[in-house]
Amino acid sequence: MMFKDKIVVISGSNSGIGKTLSKEYIDKGAIVHGFDITNAKNSDKYYAHKVDVRNFENIKKSIVDVLEKSNRIDIVVNCAGGSSARVLNENVSFEKLSIEAINWGIDVNLRGPVYMARACINQMIKQKSGVIINIGSISGETGSSTAVDYSSAKSGLVGLTKSLALLGANYGIRCCMVTPGPVLTRPEMSKMPTPLNRAAEVQEIADLILYLTSDKAGFITGSNYLIDGGRSCGGIKHAK
Ligand SMILES: NC(=O)c1ccc[n+]([C@@H]2O[C@H](COP(=O)([O-])OP(=O)(O)OC[C@H]3O[C@@H](n4cnc5c(N)ncnc54)[C@H](O)[C@@H]3O)[C@@H](O)[C@H]2O)c1
Repeated sequence: MMFKDKIVVISGSNSGIGKTLSKEYIDKGAIVHGFDITNAKNSDKYYAHKVDVRNFENIKKSIVDVLEKSNRIDIVVNCAGGSSARVLNENVSFEKLSIEAINWGIDVNLRGPVYMARACINQMIKQKSGVIINIGSISGETGSSTAVDYSSAKSGLVGLTKSLALLGANYGIRCCMVTPGPVLTRPEMSKMPTPLNRAAEVQEIADLILYLTSDKAGFITGSNYLIDGGRSCGGIKHAK
């Protein structure tokens, strides 16, 4: 019951890391508000909100709804994201990538977390408490010739994380970033090489986020935690 009665907002809550995390928080006593572009059902301690994180008005309306139902926001985890080439099924190199795909990559992965922060920060300032987690990617650390928009957006989250940490410091608000290498949200992620010769289990990423959003991590803010099996050390032959 580490998160008993905490109010948690998770974007991208209907799949992968966000879905596992929603279950973990609920198991540990929290109430979760899931923001996702796809539909989901409410359940005990889970409120599903249909939200496109590219749209600020959409987010703002759902945050009003969260506050009407739960009265506060303790934790926000920005999980909505992904590579535009994969999600929009545009398997072409950057020179040929459509502007729509580039916009999707920047908007979901960077604009979304900025909008989420803007929509939640006033409530956290009022409460004088809160934790925000941004999810990066190893592509944002190393660069990626095959996912230029994705890599750019994920690097941008470093600035967002540090800026929110500085802004929040006077109000008891922390902001951290978790940067995974390959995660087994999809079987094909096991093909992405790491020095540890495997991809992460989704649970391993969830565990780090749970720790960073717990009271045990009260002195941690502005930091970017790599959880990548050593991929950022280099020495890996990147696929073309
Ligand atoms: N899986 C990996 O190997 C991996 C590696 C590094 C970083 N990440 C990052 O971790 C995060 C979660 O990844 P995942 O693999 O669990 O993703 P996923 O594709 O399994 O889930 C993403 C969720 O985001 C939702 N979503 C997409 N667009 C949205 C929008 N505009 N508004 C609201 N919701 C939207 C989707 O409907 C989906 O439920 C992403 O930010 C991703 O970039 C994942």
